[in-house]
Amino acid sequence: MPPTFTPDTTDQKPTVLIVDDETAPRAALTQILMQDFHILTAENARAAMAVLDNHGVDLVTLDLKLPDRSGSDLLHEIKRAHAEIEVIMVTAYGSLQSAMDCIRHGAAGFLLKPFNASELLAISLQTAQKKHRLDQLRPVLTGSAELWGPEPACTTAWKTLLSDYCAMNRARSLSASRSDETSPLAPLISDLLEAKDRHLLNHGSRVSFYATLVANRLNLPIAEQQSLALGALIHDLDLISVPDGHVLNLESDQQIHRPELGAKMGRAMGLSADAVQIIALHHERWDGTGYPFGLQEERIPLLARTVAIAQAFDQLTAEQPERTALPIDEALEQIEQQAGTAFDPTLTELFCRTMHEQPQQR
Ligand SMILES: [Fe+2]
Repeated sequence: MPPTFTPDTTDQKPTVLIVDDETAPRAALTQILMQDFHILTAENARAAMAVLDNHGVDLVTLDLKLPDRSGSDLLHEIKRAHAEIEVIMVTAYGSLQSAMDCIRHGAAGFLLKPFNASELLAISLQTAQKKHRLDQLRPVLTGSAELWGPEPACTTAWKTLLSDYCAMNRARSLSASRSDETSPLAPLISDLLEAKDRHLLNHGSRVSFYATLVANRLNLPIAEQQSLALGALIHDLDLISVPDGHVLNLESDQQIHRPELGAKMGRAMGLSADAVQIIALHHERWDGTGYPFGLQEERIPLLARTVAIAQAFDQLTAEQPERTALPIDEALEQIEQQAGTAFDPTLTELFCRTMHEQPQQR
């Protein structure tokens, strides 16, 4: 059976849990959200967890300062116990940095006090819509092996998924920023990666950003730049086929990665040949010791060589469960040391120069 979404109950309002110990912000949030959401409230962390354990909640607005524990602590517990629930942090201007740290740990966004009503409503609705899309995609990922199975069922499955996804978005009249996308593939791909594991989406997004910076220096034609941006976002596509419960390893571990499988999925969903090559060949190494084909030097396409460097840089600089992130300079040194072995030396030099020239805010 090709993947299909469960019947849409779009007229059901999503449910938001407002967690704040002060009466006035609770009342303000309730007032602003009540027309579009079912509202539940909690005054502290303990009460919030009790509500979450006993009610179907889509979205939590979470004050950073609670009487019984910090909001960021509670965010961790919510994400551990109810990974699918989206959380928006609420904070005063002074603690903006902590709110941004929460986003790194899984919060969907943050709201600043005093509230701007239209901004608050917009971010809450967008986040609830995203949760709805991910809720639809998660069962597809676990129950639709056709997506990574043999042809022709694979192509049929991707076509069905894409058209169901577009129909769902039309039915829910998504925000302009989303419906303006030239291709529905990019939002579907982002949602799929996030539905599998938000680290997968975050890694892909950063790799796409780094690769795009380098592409600007290479003066690539626009079509190639677009393929590079999308191919870099989706370079680890094969990992969406890893069964749930297996720890996703984003590193270039040959035991885990199946780049040919990712490339097959990319072809079935209609990605450009350049983007498919990135998925297939970004584990190749300049000295020919990579996989799956052991290609050497310029036999590895330029875009795949670029993504190989960008993704290695992200492995070194991003926080990971069992590894501390390296400072940018140290990471670039490590990349430079692999010029001529893992990476194209000319491209490595360009990559490192480009990164050194970026304002360093990490
Ligand atoms: Fe990767």
